Amino acid sequence: MTYSILKAEQALQSNSEALNLRWYPRYHLAARAGWINDPNGLVWFDGWYHAFYQHYPYSPHWGPMHWGHARSRDLVHWEHLPVALSPQGPEDKDGCFSGSAVVDGDTLALIYTGHKFHGDPGDEKNLYQVQCLATSRDGVHFERQGIVVDTPPGLHHFRDPKVFREGNNWYMVVGARLEDTGQIRLFRSTDLRHWQEEGILDEAEEEMGFMWECPDLFVLNGKHVLMFSPQGMSANGFNNRNLFQCGYLTGEWHPGQPFVRSGTFTEMDNGHDFYAAQSFLTPDGRRVVIGWLDMWESPLPERADGWAGMLSLPRELTLSENNRIQMRPAKEVEGLRQSWFPWPVNTMKNQQIKVVENAEAMEVILCWDCAGSDAEQYGLSLGDGLRIYVDSQLQRLVLERNYPQHSLVGTRSVPLSDGTPLTLRLFIDSSSVEVFVNDGETCMSSRIYPDTDRRELALFSWSGTAVLSDAGAWQLE
Ligand code: FRU
Repeated sequence: MTYSILKAEQALQSNSEALNLRWYPRYHLAARAGWINDPNGLVWFDGWYHAFYQHYPYSPHWGPMHWGHARSRDLVHWEHLPVALSPQGPEDKDGCFSGSAVVDGDTLALIYTGHKFHGDPGDEKNLYQVQCLATSRDGVHFERQGIVVDTPPGLHHFRDPKVFREGNNWYMVVGARLEDTGQIRLFRSTDLRHWQEEGILDEAEEEMGFMWECPDLFVLNGKHVLMFSPQGMSANGFNNRNLFQCGYLTGEWHPGQPFVRSGTFTEMDNGHDFYAAQSFLTPDGRRVVIGWLDMWESPLPERADGWAGMLSLPRELTLSENNRIQMRPAKEVEGLRQSWFPWPVNTMKNQQIKVVENAEAMEVILCWDCAGSDAEQYGLSLGDGLRIYVDSQLQRLVLERNYPQHSLVGTRSVPLSDGTPLTLRLFIDSSSVEVFVNDGETCMSSRIYPDTDRRELALFSWSGTAVLSDAGAWQLE
């Protein structure tokens, strides 16, 4: 099959009419139809935020990658635009893989990976990945400029360029796999077209993965942060439980030098579904990330409905005193709030109290008085498939999903400090939940698949008493 933007648009037009919308997001970004994975090319250009994404318009399965495209004035109301890139040149004939966007004067420049096999695609030795450029004046139609960085000798997996400006230079970080070692390669340019290799920015030691995808390098609070998505890390206790991780290292970087770490790898999000995050700057200087709210090889039951995958809420980053990233919903998310419903619940003892009949698009606020609570388990449930609760024996906040009919059963959790109050902001959408713990301390995000008639919210406290100092929900637009 040959691909073009016109064909993609025709397919999307007819496929989007046939969607079953039971789990389609009410306020998150998803494709009009078909498949979505990584966010790409997040950027502010000419008065709009642009979000591109890995996209296969023809079916809800991964296929030769296109770049889907949407724009927004406020990061929460998105308008779909025509597909921006389709795999149609010799340099990207098997896919337009992930990449980034920068504003160069009056031009919007996309830098992405051309994915191609020279010969039999069943053999990885035939795989070549190159970095390509496409430019636009209107932010909607893109002109392909071809390859700007060829595959370095010895590499096959070499992808996901993230470009940023530092002084008079453009820099590009690219994920790579050298035999079984994940790496990040660094390049420099003055014109986005001619690039000089500057060596290895950082690479995996034992247990840090065979491939580092989607690298990103930025400054928070005077420190450099290297965010990336390693493949091949093993699970370790409560950490690294997902198939692949998305996390960061903090440290120092000076142009032309390798990255000097000052800490160990930390996951961005401790839920089941958060990967391939990318950051960008807002015009007022905030560092915001959006991730893919899914995980490779997850069952994605919404495939039955003609679509697959969604992006996370935009999350603003800060760095705490102890060099940990704090993630809070970008302030624009508050713009979705409609009415506030306080829940008149204070003390619960061995009981369950229904608080909402049908939760579809809601922001829930819960403040637990942990010192005053002795229940073994207390928290919130959605239907019979999701519970978010304090396990006081484990001293952890647990997110449990239980959808055996969709092969999705299991927990993720984060540690709690003894006896301090626990504040939660939970964002519920048709098939997702994002839990922000203690004003950005940690975050857990997972896809959920409630039956349409089982979306009631209830508070519960088992084996003892639980005390709430504040509880309620915003209906979201
Ligand atoms: C990450 C990733 C990238 C690649 C893209 C392909 O999820 O594997 O490394 O560019 O997805 O769709």
